[in-house]
Amino acid sequence: MEGRLAYDAIIIGGGAAGLSCAAWIAQSGKKVAVLERTAKVGKKILMSGGGRCNFTNMYSEPENFLSANPHFCISALSRYTPWDFIALVDSYNIPYHEKKLGQLFCDNSAKDILSMLLSECDKSKVNIYMHCDIQQVVNNGHYKIHTNKGVFESEVVVVASGGLSIPSMGVTGFGYELAQQFGMEVIPSRAGLVPFTFTDNIKTVSNHLSGLSVDTIVSNHKSQFRENILFTHRGLSGPAILQISSYWQASESIDIDLLPEEHDLEWLYIKKKKQPKTLLRTLLAERLPKALVAELETLWWPQQSQTPMAEIPNTLLQTVMQNLKAWRLRPSGTEGYRTAEVTLGGVDTQEVSSKNMESKKQSGLFFVGEVVDVTGHLGGHNFQWAWASAYAAAQGI
Ligand code: FDA
Repeated sequence: MEGRLAYDAIIIGGGAAGLSCAAWIAQSGKKVAVLERTAKVGKKILMSGGGRCNFTNMYSEPENFLSANPHFCISALSRYTPWDFIALVDSYNIPYHEKKLGQLFCDNSAKDILSMLLSECDKSKVNIYMHCDIQQVVNNGHYKIHTNKGVFESEVVVVASGGLSIPSMGVTGFGYELAQQFGMEVIPSRAGLVPFTFTDNIKTVSNHLSGLSVDTIVSNHKSQFRENILFTHRGLSGPAILQISSYWQASESIDIDLLPEEHDLEWLYIKKKKQPKTLLRTLLAERLPKALVAELETLWWPQQSQTPMAEIPNTLLQTVMQNLKAWRLRPSGTEGYRTAEVTLGGVDTQEVSSKNMESKKQSGLFFVGEVVDVTGHLGGHNFQWAWASAYAAAQGI
């Protein structure tokens, strides 16, 4: 025990939002501590983007975020834009590139982003405490945080403890519990940006096609995404699936358009006239991977697998074409927090000021990053929210 530790601001959680917020608060000369429960800060930064950290998205807009209150994120996002973070990255000469759709990745390693944040913290003399177990937070005029490293005291506490995805990283529901302790509402959380699992025949199909990636449009009644899907041993993944998973509720179906470039529903009839002796499988293999076509055949036209086009009834061709444009699948579930990139839900935005992320019920208590009920699309938007919300809080402290 180190006794009483007084700070101008205490940040709970040393992830993307916590480290950036700490650095920005400390830049004005304030004394700041980061309390991190685990042995390492920035673990999710290091594992993000396949180790290259998709640190922002050049086209990040409020439309790229889900929340019970879709307007909440507008203020913070407009005051700290992707270009502000890019300027910071540029100032450290970190090489990066656009992979696709505005997604910016480090050329070398996600370590570059973490080193940059730690260097910013270091410059402003932020104290980072690791292995710090928080036992109790009380407020008797100011905050007292009881930990295994001593009692931290401050007028200001910023909760940046993240969500529940990837339990093996030592995540906790601490931020939600603290919000509730101070009388704030928390929107029930669930896994987002997560692969789908199946218990029906799609499980077998996915297993057979494991590793195959196909350009599609995946949609449901709430949204749609033009990106690849990836068949896996367990079900379906890939960017389009991860994106739609955030808009999916248990027992709902999704539609997959396997021919996003084909808008003519007469296409197969025309083919039938032009190539009457050809097998349907052969025709479709001109547009789709052979292995996928073989699986679709067992699902949709097993009896006609050897039948030339001329003898396949138009009604069947119509059904096949409709299925290709909207292959309706009903996932049995998702892989859950074990592999999810983010947590949907969290501290209710009704309880937090959109200007500076401070609790409306509890003065001096701020919430930033993923712990708040704001969740980004895949592609760098979640880090952009971490930076923008952290910056908004720092400006208000
Ligand atoms: P984050 O989870 O980063 O940090 C929270 C910190 O608080 C952790 O260090 C944790 O240990 C600590 N903590 C928790 N409980 C505590 C307690 N009780 N006391 C003290 N400390 C506590 N996003 C993106 O934009 N681009 C990308 O490329 C990716 N890639 C990606 C890959 C994978 C595999 C995952 C799981 C996630 C992504 N993401 C992403 C999402 C992104 O990582 C995520 O949105 C941000 O890390 C959220 O930042 P936070 O700082 O809010 O939480």
